[in-house]
Amino acid sequence: MAKIIFTIFLFLVASNLVPSIYGEKLVPCYFIFGDSLLDNGNNNHRNTVAKANFLPYGIDYPNGQTGRFSNGRNVADFIAEELGFPAHIPPFATASGDDDAVLNGVNYASGGAGILSGTGKQLGDVISLDEQLQNHQTTINRSISILGNADAAKNHMGHCIYSVGMGSNDYAAYAMNPLRPSPNRYASQLIDNYSRQLRDLYAYGARKVSLFGLGAIGCVPAARLMYGRTLCLSATKTTSGVFNTKLKSLVDVLNKDLVGANFTYIDTFGITVSDPASNGFKYDKVECCTVSAAGMCVPQGVTCSNRTDYAYFDGYHPTEAAAAVVAKRAFAALSPSDAYPFDIQHLAQA
Ligand SMILES: *[C@@H]1O[C@H](CO)[C@@H](O)[C@H](O)[C@H]1NC(C)=O
Ligand SMILES: *[C@@H]1O[C@H](CO)[C@@H](O)[C@H](O)[C@H]1NC(C)=O
Ligand SMILES: *[C@@H]1O[C@H](CO)[C@@H](O)[C@H](O)[C@H]1NC(C)=O
Ligand SMILES: *[C@@H]1O[C@H](CO)[C@@H](O)[C@H](O)[C@H]1NC(C)=O
Repeated sequence: MAKIIFTIFLFLVASNLVPSIYGEKLVPCYFIFGDSLLDNGNNNHRNTVAKANFLPYGIDYPNGQTGRFSNGRNVADFIAEELGFPAHIPPFATASGDDDAVLNGVNYASGGAGILSGTGKQLGDVISLDEQLQNHQTTINRSISILGNADAAKNHMGHCIYSVGMGSNDYAAYAMNPLRPSPNRYASQLIDNYSRQLRDLYAYGARKVSLFGLGAIGCVPAARLMYGRTLCLSATKTTSGVFNTKLKSLVDVLNKDLVGANFTYIDTFGITVSDPASNGFKYDKVECCTVSAAGMCVPQGVTCSNRTDYAYFDGYHPTEAAAAVVAKRAFAALSPSDAYPFDIQHLAQA
């Protein structure tokens, strides 16, 4: 009898360890892959110019300049908050040690990086999506050693939410390439590679994946500066609309092909170009900080005083306030077209 009670007691102690890791979160873990829109410091100690670890970046973030390309929190930070995480997901650059915290998730995003391995390499040593997936293998190996075996790790990975946001830098490279293929051909090449990468992510155990479509890359202040402040290059002109259409179709293909997986598409473009007044921004055509020729904030430069009135912080990246709009509508869709087939809140329950 004493032995049975002791066994039960041990079982309770063991299962109590789980809630202490899992807390009140909707899901146990959140993993992020992407570019500067989601990066939170992975480039800080790399040999690249694609960095934002200096003020005024981080001016509104509690820990100051962390490497986020924003005045404050980015989209991944807000989604982590919506999912009930007590802290933002750490960058791979600092989370890859011996810490059990990798079980809560890791952010692999790298400013300047793309779907294609060559994208952004003119900026230096940025971490392409293929390399981010290799880094994820390090996390998986670490999870296997923490949880005891590969099946337990895979089961854990299947309960996490994943966000992947890639392609903006591939289109920046496309715009600069004098030998560029047709828009349709380029989008197909990107989607073919992306499809392979997302299938790899599935093979590593991912089952709940939110794919962020391209935003209004023809509307960012840096593009307006090139083509006139009043204009906003249409999605057709920048050709990113072709990519978004194909990405949405890829969601259907992956949901059909990959047993037990739920992929969802977030309409970043539609959310961003919604009536600015309804998104709450007085200024959606100009950046808030003083920018360099490259469209980045000048180190220690001045910023606008009321940053919640601006959609863009520098020439390319949203303010914290604009990131909050995208993240909140990705998590709980405001319009039926915001997320397809469903929003992240439903992905968490799927
Ligand atoms: C795209 O994927 C193909 C294989 O599907 C691969 O051969 C090629 O190297 C990839 N291209 C880039 C630039 O990453
Ligand atoms: C993960 O572990 C496997 C099996 O031990 C090994 O082959 C692989 O190289 C490891 N990968 C990384 C990135 O550590
Ligand atoms: C998620 O995927 C599973 C397995 O493919 C499917 O049965 C389920 O309907 C999907 N969930 C939703 C909410 O569509
Ligand atoms: C900043 O903008 C917000 C939103 O438009 C407004 O409510 C607030 O009064 C403004 N604050 C200042 C100091 O101008």
